Amino acid sequence: MGLFTKKPMHLLMAEAGDNEKGLKRTLSAGSLVALGIGAIIGAGLFVRTAAAAAQNAGPSVTIGFIVAAIGCALAGLCYAELSSSIPISGSAYTYTYATMGELLAWVIGWDLVLEYAVGAATVGIAWSEYLNNLLVQVLHLKPIAYEWCHSPFEKSIADAAGVVHHGMMNIPALGIVSLLSLLLIKGTQESAFVNGLIVITKVSIVIMIIIFGWSFINPINHDNYIPASSIYTDSSGIDHHYGGIMGILGAAGVVFFAFIGFDAVSTAAQETKNPKTAMPIGILGSLAVCTVLYILFAHVLTGMAPVEFFRTDGKEASVVAAINKYMPGYAWLGKLVTVAILAGFSSVILVMLLGQSRVFYSMSKDGLLPPIFSEVHPKYKTPYKANLIIMILVGAFAAFVPGEVVGDMTSIGTLFAFILVCAAVIILRKTDPNLPRQFKTPLVPLVPILGILVCAAMILGLGWTNWLRLFVWLAIGFVIYFGYSKKRSHLK
Ligand code: ALA
Repeated sequence: MGLFTKKPMHLLMAEAGDNEKGLKRTLSAGSLVALGIGAIIGAGLFVRTAAAAAQNAGPSVTIGFIVAAIGCALAGLCYAELSSSIPISGSAYTYTYATMGELLAWVIGWDLVLEYAVGAATVGIAWSEYLNNLLVQVLHLKPIAYEWCHSPFEKSIADAAGVVHHGMMNIPALGIVSLLSLLLIKGTQESAFVNGLIVITKVSIVIMIIIFGWSFINPINHDNYIPASSIYTDSSGIDHHYGGIMGILGAAGVVFFAFIGFDAVSTAAQETKNPKTAMPIGILGSLAVCTVLYILFAHVLTGMAPVEFFRTDGKEASVVAAINKYMPGYAWLGKLVTVAILAGFSSVILVMLLGQSRVFYSMSKDGLLPPIFSEVHPKYKTPYKANLIIMILVGAFAAFVPGEVVGDMTSIGTLFAFILVCAAVIILRKTDPNLPRQFKTPLVPLVPILGILVCAAMILGLGWTNWLRLFVWLAIGFVIYFGYSKKRSHLK
């Protein structure tokens, strides 16, 4: 038994059927689509759209959205096949274990921490930006001091009186992550209910911004739709390709974050009633709804305000800042959006924390992580100890790392996971052609290969700083695998 030992399919299926000891099956296809949209619409749309316009692509961020959506749809088709044939917790991690062996499964499980845990931290940080907006614009109170809502690695700022402020710790981000972790411990069904309410609010807000904002589009802002290629240096001194094809690819990599989450649906397979049909509907349905909304939204946002605005005044809480400045008479919409966004971001964080705990649950069941990660609460039937440990991990990222850094790390980590999922479909068709597949990815191997290429192009667009971060993260993972997991693997 070595690095490439695969987890036998019958073993996976037996585990999936073992409901007595494990997780409860409570979710339907409808709740999965809601879970998906709950995870999908969030900081990617409300924070990173403006960032991608400012740093990478100007108005052509809409084309970036299209590229990202194509990559996600191709990978989504692969996810749907795998989650309908291997319908148990753990998402890409589980699929890789069955198809490409233990080492790659570990790599992907470790990489998924970037997607779920670091992703949750990113949204927590965005939540903190909009909390300040709530305090100042809606409640007319003082904002939280810069020191206590920014990471120590964030650029310092000088206020009107010339006093320089340095970030210390992002307390609101830490707070929201902790609160939601505790809610998750109480149970998936209850969390899915709260999530359903939030999803309705969130979708309504996006539609309202599109409809009301449309008449405030200033065509001048859309002149030069794809800006000429140049280099833009951001306030932290990092260079970005701005404009041209590389700008669009860079923007696609950045806004790709906005799509992350549809795959989180697949992590709840073991808690789904009739997963074989519900999974493909949940994954592809939520992806389709969001894609249409995103393209329209980005078109309106970049039409309303010039790029320069998103580089300066509109850098934080960008959407509300743009509404307040460029949509006179719509201050009420800005307030409504602020409240809805705070709720909306919470549902994203919730699903990501859920995804993370389920991946750790599966890895722990396989012996690759300590047993504590798969201990299920006797009453709530949730992996509560995993939730608590993840709360500390995510809380630390949220409190101490700047939003842009964690955001890009999430994007690159997820893109890498998608590439492996696409590859897994091709491999599983060869190694296990007779496995019952409720949903089959069309045109294999063309669709998975295109999925791999589009995701790789977005990784390229994210630039070397992010490649390096991914590399370092994976290196840490190898140390843990060879130091701990390899010896304790249950397959061994
Ligand atoms: N897609 C999620 C968001 O945009 C992660 O917040």
